[in-house]
Amino acid sequence: MSTAQQPRGSGVFRTKSIEQSIRDTEEPEHALRKSLSAWDLTVFGVGVIIGTGIFVLTGKVAKENAGPATALAFVAAGIVCALAALCYAEFASTVPVAGSAYTFSYASIGELPAWIIGWDLVLEFALGTAVVAVGWSGYVRSLLDNIGWNLPAWMQGPDVAGGTFDLLAFLLILVITAVLVVGMKLSARITSVVVAIKVTVVMIVIIAGLFFIVGSNYSPFIPEAVTPEGGSSGWDAPLVQTIFGYEPTNFGVMGIFTAASVVFFAFIGFDVVATAAEETKLPQRDMPRGILGSLLICTVLYVAVSLVVTGMQNYQDLSVSAPLADAFKSVGHPVYAGIISFGAAVGLTTVCLILFLGQTRVFFAMSRDGLLPRFFSKTHPKFQTPYRPTILLGVVIAVVAGFTSINELATLVNIGTLFAFVVVALGVIVLRRTRPDLHRAFRTPWVPVLPIVSVAASFWLMLNLPGETWFRFAVWMAIGVVVYFAYGRSHSRLGRESRTVEGT
Ligand code: ALA
Repeated sequence: MSTAQQPRGSGVFRTKSIEQSIRDTEEPEHALRKSLSAWDLTVFGVGVIIGTGIFVLTGKVAKENAGPATALAFVAAGIVCALAALCYAEFASTVPVAGSAYTFSYASIGELPAWIIGWDLVLEFALGTAVVAVGWSGYVRSLLDNIGWNLPAWMQGPDVAGGTFDLLAFLLILVITAVLVVGMKLSARITSVVVAIKVTVVMIVIIAGLFFIVGSNYSPFIPEAVTPEGGSSGWDAPLVQTIFGYEPTNFGVMGIFTAASVVFFAFIGFDVVATAAEETKLPQRDMPRGILGSLLICTVLYVAVSLVVTGMQNYQDLSVSAPLADAFKSVGHPVYAGIISFGAAVGLTTVCLILFLGQTRVFFAMSRDGLLPRFFSKTHPKFQTPYRPTILLGVVIAVVAGFTSINELATLVNIGTLFAFVVVALGVIVLRRTRPDLHRAFRTPWVPVLPIVSVAASFWLMLNLPGETWFRFAVWMAIGVVVYFAYGRSHSRLGRESRTVEGT
């Protein structure tokens, strides 16, 4: 083994060499099947990116934070993601191993930071899956309403008056769990069909909606800043406003950034493409294409959709639960509204599927490294899928989706994801210094300037999230650190290997 290939550092900052990460994937019992192309990855990307963010959150932020300038919020969030994507693309094409930001940081910064990021990704993917399942359930219930079927109130979930348990969200997660256990290729096929339906529906919104735009709805394009009704405790105000002692406001220029920190949820998913690196036929070439391609397509669609919807209806009148469909109802076209609701319900299914897939792959990678019990990293003898973590997480996510309200979870998902972006961007800079020799099929341009700008941009969006979100995030991460010191540190495969090397 050359010096460059050996694990580096010691204790919590020991790093796993890139070669070691790649070798681990070649152990037959712990290997995933390599079957994905650039096209599969792009379809995967678009499949997970377009979801609750555009179908649900657009209405909420236009109404409460940004008005017609919501389109600018999408541009701002898209720029933050594009910067992060350029960093993700370099890492994913250099370290083509399951686990995304987790694997990247293990190779560059060290074991404890990698654990922290893995723990953070659990938050992003597991809660993200639950949030989307609950959103899906809302659309399906609305479709069932149309044909006169209503579930008993208690089965409609905690977001509905009198509801306690979201039966549909719970069942959706169980079905998805079964699909993922059976295998990647099957789910990729289902995904392509569903993605086609979803993109078609989005195109219908844009093209049909153009004919109903009324110019006066764009005036003022950036509504004047106002104090939120009933004031603010500061706890629910964007942290940046609390820190700098502003009186909390909605709308205005700051409102665009508040909106951006929320609609950021709409972009989550391109990073999931990176988690499938190990299952990609030619990761060095196909990863960057898949990540950047899907991100670009979605940004263009989001800006177009938000411009059309705020042009069709005054932002103050937009609905917060099904804004795209309801905008068509408001102009007297319920048939379009029905088609859009149907497409949204179908489309959200793939978002759940792929977020969940990303989650199981991170869990799998952490367990293969011994930071979580190795029991979870045995792949299925026939399907070659990490079926054990899939089943365990499926049950947990189904319960969370069944009993939890979505609003606060979505901002928690955002802060977790932005934090991962910060770590990945720093990882690019570190790995360029520690391993300049590595072959990089895709190189992030202008290193270290671009990654530094990416860190600053992600952090800026984090600051625009509420103080209470920061608090919850800190609690989750503190629990993660305790788990690491109680289990992962002593069971780490890398730690055991370096102890063996030292002992010989
Ligand atoms: N980007 C995904 C969505 O909007 C997570 O639902």
